[in-house]
Amino acid sequence: MSLLHLNRYLLGLATALILFLSGCGGGVQSALNPTGPQALNVSKLWWLMFYVCGVVFVLVLVVTCIAFLRRGERNASPDEKPILHPPEEKEARKRNVVIAATAITTVILFVFLIESFFIGRGLTAELSRKQGISIELTGHQWWWEARYMNVDASNIFTTANEIHIPVGVPVSFRLKSNDVIHSFWVPNLSGKKDLIPGKVATIWLQADQPGLYRGQCAEYCGHQHAHMALLIIAESEQQFEAWTRNQIQSAPTPTSDSQKRGQQVFLSTTCVMCHAIGGTTAASVFGPNLTHVGSRQTIAAATLTNTRDHLSQWVTNSQVVKPGNRMPPNNLSSDDLQAVLDYLQSLQ
Ligand code: CUA
Repeated sequence: MSLLHLNRYLLGLATALILFLSGCGGGVQSALNPTGPQALNVSKLWWLMFYVCGVVFVLVLVVTCIAFLRRGERNASPDEKPILHPPEEKEARKRNVVIAATAITTVILFVFLIESFFIGRGLTAELSRKQGISIELTGHQWWWEARYMNVDASNIFTTANEIHIPVGVPVSFRLKSNDVIHSFWVPNLSGKKDLIPGKVATIWLQADQPGLYRGQCAEYCGHQHAHMALLIIAESEQQFEAWTRNQIQSAPTPTSDSQKRGQQVFLSTTCVMCHAIGGTTAASVFGPNLTHVGSRQTIAAATLTNTRDHLSQWVTNSQVVKPGNRMPPNNLSSDDLQAVLDYLQSLQ
């Protein structure tokens, strides 16, 4: 290897290391940045395993190097006779080393087993004692439907891909799927749990600090699995209540002429076959509920930011953005499209 090649190699290695390390420790989607009791427990288990396995890894490397060096020192000649009857005390020493290593390995594995058992039990056991918010989360190819449950049926509402929660309050999720297996994972807040068709799974989490946390489907579920993300927005109790009060309301009535025309276009085309908008005749549940779509930060399961350009792209031909998704292209005239965009953006 020439010096130039070696330099390039080292530079590549250093870049890879920096990129790898920059992925750790922070961010809105990182298990190493726990922001709630559930994620904290999971991260404790992770660090225990990381340190123990790190030490074992280094020890194995050291012992392997020593073995190589010793073999080199002996400088075997081609006509050296194989040792058929090694001295007994040397054999006994080697046997003891193997027995000791096996015993240590067994103890380590048992420590891992016991620790993960208790942490796993802690994650689920507290669910029954917690009183808080309850959300029914349904996985679809490829988006999330969130239904905020309430003892008062008039306070139940449905939204998509963006879940607001109050800080410091436990939130329990009932996880369901309508098609294939998905998996709910918001690394900063909790471990992951599968959404299995025909079954109901439960998980709870709590955010201890306000902020935006990104979650991702963690089970391969088809073509757009990678674009099935969701946002959890943890905010103060007052902010959460204000948000909830707004979400319970029907969609705002269109005010401008353009918004009115947009609503007419929406209600008279294929949009209504999949979407619902509270307070209108659109009441289908195949696609995301759009009652307050204008208030969301992203569209298409956190794939695009919720800007007019992105909405336009999505309404016109979402297949370019997210090939294989269930939304067909829409052939609207330019005026109709602008009106629909005005209307959708007014749905705050
Ligand atoms: Cu849903 Cu992967």
